[in-house]
Amino acid sequence: MNILVIGSGGREHALASKIREQAGCDKLYIIPGNPGTGLIGENVQMNQDDHESILKFALANKIDLTVIGPEKPLIDGLADKMREAGLKVFGPSKKAARIEGEKSFAKHLMKDYKIPTASFEIYNKENYDSAVTYLKKINYPTVIKADGIAAGKGVLIVDSFEDAKEALKECFVNCSFGSAGDKVVIEEFMTGQEASIFAITDGTDFILLPAAQDHKRIFDGDRGKNTGGMGAYAPTPFVNEKIIKDVAAKIVDPTLKALREIGTPFVGCLYCGLMLTDQGPKVVEFNCRFGDPETQVVLPLLKGDFIRLLYSASSGRLEKNSVEYNGGASVSVVIASGGYPDKFEKGKEITGLNKLPENVKVFHAGTKIVDGKILTNGGRVLNVTSFTERNNLPEAKKLAYNAIPQIKFEGMHYRTDISDKALK
Ligand code: AMP
Ligand code: GLY
Repeated sequence: MNILVIGSGGREHALASKIREQAGCDKLYIIPGNPGTGLIGENVQMNQDDHESILKFALANKIDLTVIGPEKPLIDGLADKMREAGLKVFGPSKKAARIEGEKSFAKHLMKDYKIPTASFEIYNKENYDSAVTYLKKINYPTVIKADGIAAGKGVLIVDSFEDAKEALKECFVNCSFGSAGDKVVIEEFMTGQEASIFAITDGTDFILLPAAQDHKRIFDGDRGKNTGGMGAYAPTPFVNEKIIKDVAAKIVDPTLKALREIGTPFVGCLYCGLMLTDQGPKVVEFNCRFGDPETQVVLPLLKGDFIRLLYSASSGRLEKNSVEYNGGASVSVVIASGGYPDKFEKGKEITGLNKLPENVKVFHAGTKIVDGKILTNGGRVLNVTSFTERNNLPEAKKLAYNAIPQIKFEGMHYRTDISDKALK
């Protein structure tokens, strides 16, 4: 099978790597890919926003399956365009991708179908005054979210009415999130452990992959600013059999049903960002694609035929038994540029990438290759990822962290406590 992966981050390197391992993969292309994906497939230099050229490439190269990694091309309708041309695509339509692209859409859907999530109110820019009136009478902390996608920065947790008013100003007056902040969701603050669960679906049937836990804050102990994710591990012990049953029956099944009923069935990976509250799992957010960096730790835990899983979902008849949990554990540590998530420099040379121990892989997230040298090219640069055959998280943690000192670049920064929550 000829397979095309769209994207350029650690998630896409992990996807390409899993696909490459399978017997069913002939040609593997990545648009645009990164130096890591270039070692296992063919990178094609093309803009992810240039849907016309991507379609032409897929047709000309007889692509049997396209896997779209990031949300942007999905929200912009790349899957629709390719499907209309008769191609098989793993990833939802533009309409179904609204579940990530418009938080208000997701919240209304959850309310209408009684899917557990934080209670909420929605306000437009035009209703600034009534939003302020509402903020006066609620309890704190509360959460204010820009409606559209804001590169992971559109969620503001505020402790007081004054801070809430400032946050509202950021959205409505200073337009810090562009048009994504013209509408806001103000929602109840939930407490508990967070977990991420991927549902792989053909629109009706689905399977849940092992649950992971992301680490969004920049510093150890969940301190400092929010980031795109500083590391993850799987499986997380916070998700037991009962929670998995609840997520399937009370969250994934009704959400897929809701999307079918409004005429926009969801095909692909429905990312469920969950808060495990005293009242059971509740949805923090849905994403319309695999999570990053969770994918890097979930895929190493799958045995079986991953390509068949994606292909059967894309074909509308999910083969649920294509993959199963292999009993292992995985930890991925994000190595970031100094200064990230604020200002940081790019172009630092990375060394030591070819001296990795067994059972450790490095996925490239923000790198480029210049004159044969690998240079930093983003905030999150590398994902040092380990896996153990048995579910031994302490061992997986040790493996990942023991591999890091080999790798060097100026200013590199990483958290030292990825997976510690599970070990306590
Ligand atoms: P999101 O981009 O929606 O995943 O939000 C980013 C982070 O903000 C989440 O991972 C949570 O840690 C936090 N968050 C979002 N919504 C809530 C909520 N309703 N209650 C508590 N924390 C939240
Ligand atoms: N790890 C969070 C996300 O993929 O959005």
